[in-house]
Amino acid sequence: MQSAAGTPMSETPFKPHNSPYGSGDPYYSESTGFLTSQRQRKGASNWIKFGVPVAIVVIIAAVVGGVVGSRHHTSAAEAVSSQAAASSAASAKSAIGIYPTGTNSQYMMPLYPSTTNSAAFTSPTFIPQSNAVKAWPSDSFQPSNPAPTSVRPDRPRLIAPSYKWAALPDLIKNDVYMANWNATIFGNASDYYSQPVVQYFMDGDSGILDNARQVKERVKAFSYVYRMTNDTKWVDRVWAELQNAAGNGTQSFGPDNDTRWNPAHFLDTAEMVAAYGIAYDWLYDQWSADQKSSIISTMIEYGLNPGVTALTNDPNYWGWWKNNTQGNWNCVCNNGLTMAALAILGDDTSGIAEQLLGLTIPNANENCVYGVTSDGTWTETANYWYFGTTAHAEMASSLITAAGDDFGLLKTNANFSMTGMFHMYVTGPGTLFDWGDHGPNKYSSTANSIIFYADQFDHPEYMLFQRDQHDAAEPWTMFWYNPEVAGAFWDGMELDHFFDDPLDQWASMRSSFTDENALFVAMKAGKLQGHQTHNDLDCGDFVLDALGHRWAGELGSGNYRSPGYFSSDAQDSQRWLYYRKRTEGQNTILVGAQNQDVTAAPTVQHGSTGERQGSSTVYEVPSDSTAYWTADLTSAYFNVTSFKRGVRTLNARKQVLIQDEINAQASIQWRMHTNATVTTDGTTATLKLGDETLQISMLNPPSGASFSTMQAVRLDTDPTPPEPDQENPGVTVLTINLDAGSYTLELLFNPQWPGMQSSDFVSPPSVPLDQWSLTSHN
Ligand SMILES: *[C@@H]1O[C@H](CO)[C@@H](O)[C@H](O)[C@H]1NC(C)=O
Ligand SMILES: *[C@@H]1O[C@H](CO)[C@@H](O)[C@H](O)[C@H]1NC(C)=O
Ligand SMILES: *[C@@H]1O[C@H](CO)[C@@H](O)[C@H](O)[C@H]1NC(C)=O
Ligand SMILES: *[C@@H]1O[C@H](CO)[C@@H](O)[C@H](O)[C@H]1NC(C)=O
Ligand SMILES: *[C@@H]1O[C@H](CO)[C@@H](O)[C@H](O)[C@H]1NC(C)=O
Ligand SMILES: *[C@@H]1O[C@H](CO)[C@@H](O)[C@H](O)[C@H]1NC(C)=O
Ligand SMILES: *[C@@H]1O[C@H](CO)[C@@H](O)[C@H](O)[C@H]1NC(C)=O
Ligand SMILES: *[C@@H]1O[C@H](CO)[C@@H](O)[C@H](O)[C@H]1NC(C)=O
Ligand SMILES: *[C@@H]1O[C@H](CO)[C@@H](O)[C@H](O)[C@H]1NC(C)=O
Repeated sequence: MQSAAGTPMSETPFKPHNSPYGSGDPYYSESTGFLTSQRQRKGASNWIKFGVPVAIVVIIAAVVGGVVGSRHHTSAAEAVSSQAAASSAASAKSAIGIYPTGTNSQYMMPLYPSTTNSAAFTSPTFIPQSNAVKAWPSDSFQPSNPAPTSVRPDRPRLIAPSYKWAALPDLIKNDVYMANWNATIFGNASDYYSQPVVQYFMDGDSGILDNARQVKERVKAFSYVYRMTNDTKWVDRVWAELQNAAGNGTQSFGPDNDTRWNPAHFLDTAEMVAAYGIAYDWLYDQWSADQKSSIISTMIEYGLNPGVTALTNDPNYWGWWKNNTQGNWNCVCNNGLTMAALAILGDDTSGIAEQLLGLTIPNANENCVYGVTSDGTWTETANYWYFGTTAHAEMASSLITAAGDDFGLLKTNANFSMTGMFHMYVTGPGTLFDWGDHGPNKYSSTANSIIFYADQFDHPEYMLFQRDQHDAAEPWTMFWYNPEVAGAFWDGMELDHFFDDPLDQWASMRSSFTDENALFVAMKAGKLQGHQTHNDLDCGDFVLDALGHRWAGELGSGNYRSPGYFSSDAQDSQRWLYYRKRTEGQNTILVGAQNQDVTAAPTVQHGSTGERQGSSTVYEVPSDSTAYWTADLTSAYFNVTSFKRGVRTLNARKQVLIQDEINAQASIQWRMHTNATVTTDGTTATLKLGDETLQISMLNPPSGASFSTMQAVRLDTDPTPPEPDQENPGVTVLTINLDAGSYTLELLFNPQWPGMQSSDFVSPPSVPLDQWSLTSHN
């Protein structure tokens, strides 16, 4: 059925922002609807493209019988008309193929073609029943009174029941995405196969988390390929990994029995026991009785017994995460124990599986599910979202497939469903608004939870967004994806969104969802405590992207192994001695060279003209389109009588204004971190990244105010941290220094867009923040 197949892509090292353009860029032809090698797009793209164009021509069967089981029902009349449009959208999109991704964007963002395609780019939808797209059959396991310990009769139980495996080959042949992911998983499995078993490495405070997540990633890929080929070499390889991580291989794994899976850093234990559970369940028919009992005994000794200790003994260091912990730890720990317990339920004669399910599910419903705040934001950081939601989705999906219900995980927090939207808005054209800590290596943690959530919460746009991302190809996606999804995620997406939970409070504004050169500005306020000690002292912090570059950016994690790094989020915590976590390490105002007040409780206001991108990837911003967000940050400071900061887009989202109104009794320093080369000239700063330029100018400058630059290092007056800071190579801090006093700073950011003359830029009127409105700067 396929005329060309997806070519596995080779590993390319991360390239710096100013790399030359990649060669062989795929471009899209408006006339044929296919990717061509001819460059269509006008203007430059700064994201280096990655990979070969993947244009798989799929012949969609005109009539497909036996399509049942869609959860997404529509009225009969609606179904008839929307069915035709959606199914034509699905086949048009299949013909286009998967978009290439940009290697020099940190998250390898998809590069959308510059085109309209009214056949493919329609409203996000799940195609109603009886259509021309192959769909999953329905699950015959539908218990009327589900209980976590009453599991489906057949294997596998976890995430991928046998009826889905049976349907998979046919779906793969009919769906461009599934075909590509399948091929990529095969390629990844071969790569892992050629490497030695995962080598034990104790990484201080991060423990053996990398090891555990690598074992899990491999077990998933090897088991997947075995089930798709029946080649037992993959089973043997899984066994070798299990032997090794149990300390039964040819090399040691961990110092001794008690600490083998490092229960003092319980994430490691949980991810490892999850990997064993997946191996046990997905390869169930291949294991001998001896192998099964060996796997179970190892899971109990190193994973499940410590799990019971963690969840029942109190106070207990192993289980600190079980109480009042609304972040990734609670989700990862409860999920690992749950997947493991479900896998061995019935075969385990000790009763520990039942016992654990009685502990993990209620605990996750009290803690993990509230990792998502009332506005959809993850309580920790945009990067920790990956760990938390991966584990939450694995746990909910495993319970649904094994026992027929999510047992509250999807419903207890009524606002959980918005977390896919959070991820979409926190994603800029090249990378995330990546405040706070970034976490360890992701390995088996991806953004694919939103493919699962899309289906569960009926948000097709989540699935459409994620399916083009670089981390989409992994075994879970093969089972979470619903091939009935059709349309374009951006069709109908509001350009702006404001997140108002007092814990987070942040704004996301942009000029397009599909142009990698788009303007994106995001700013935050929020509380400085209650983020599992992963945040920075960063009220007022912002990022700014334009012209394919990040102009104002984040420094990311400090060294997790530095003394006191995670000690607490109190004002006197050692964490706040490290530059990257201090207020001076953020893109905000520093007063008296002091950290912000950890008890900050800002208030925010905002407005947007509310445009939604249409179906085209070529979005023309209307001339009066704007968005603004202001925050009262007074409570975040010492020695400040009042401080308000506002950000708004101007001139059809081609320019940005950041305004500060501050009255302080100590010195004031405006700070912004950038990778750009900076030249300053009084009240003007010129930033260059690659061939692109951003100009920043002070409007109505306070007397004597001028730009200067500093290195991204601690101030001489700072208290000494227990350990030196990491360096921040290539980063310059743009500053404005003012004495104590009362000021208004109005900074105008003008990206030098191609074809724009200096006369095309606007100089906005001076308007106090309290009077900002949608029309105040027209
Ligand atoms: C899987 O293979 C793809 C394509 O070669 C590659 O980009 C990706 O990094 C691999 N993933 C992992 C986890 O190795
Ligand atoms: C999955 O990918 C592998 C490797 O490319 C290929 O051999 C296999 O045929 C694919 N499976 C299906 C069902 O197409
Ligand atoms: C693998 O074996 C199963 C069970 O015998 C069979 O149903 C399936 O078709 C086989 N798959 C392949 C790819 O040979
Ligand atoms: C470690 O556990 C294994 C198997 O459970 C047991 O045979 C061995 O004696 C234990 N070693 C020590 C030092 O306790
Ligand atoms: C590892 O060896 C120990 C001691 O013989 C045994 O109890 C355990 O079941 C083995 N685990 C695996 C996964 O083979
Ligand atoms: C759980 O945490 C809360 C808040 O920190 C605390 O008041 C309570 O005592 C803790 N409960 C247990 C059982 O440790
Ligand atoms: C969060 O859920 C609650 C309960 O359903 C609802 O009242 C509230 O409006 C939701 N918050 C948002 C921001 O939608
Ligand atoms: C500098 O570039 C790196 C790599 O893309 C990025 O992670 C970092 O956030 C950037 N720093 C700033 C201050 O923009
Ligand atoms: C600012 O406030 C802090 C805490 O109240 C105080 O210790 C410090 O001396 C003040 N600094 C200035 C420059 O006023």
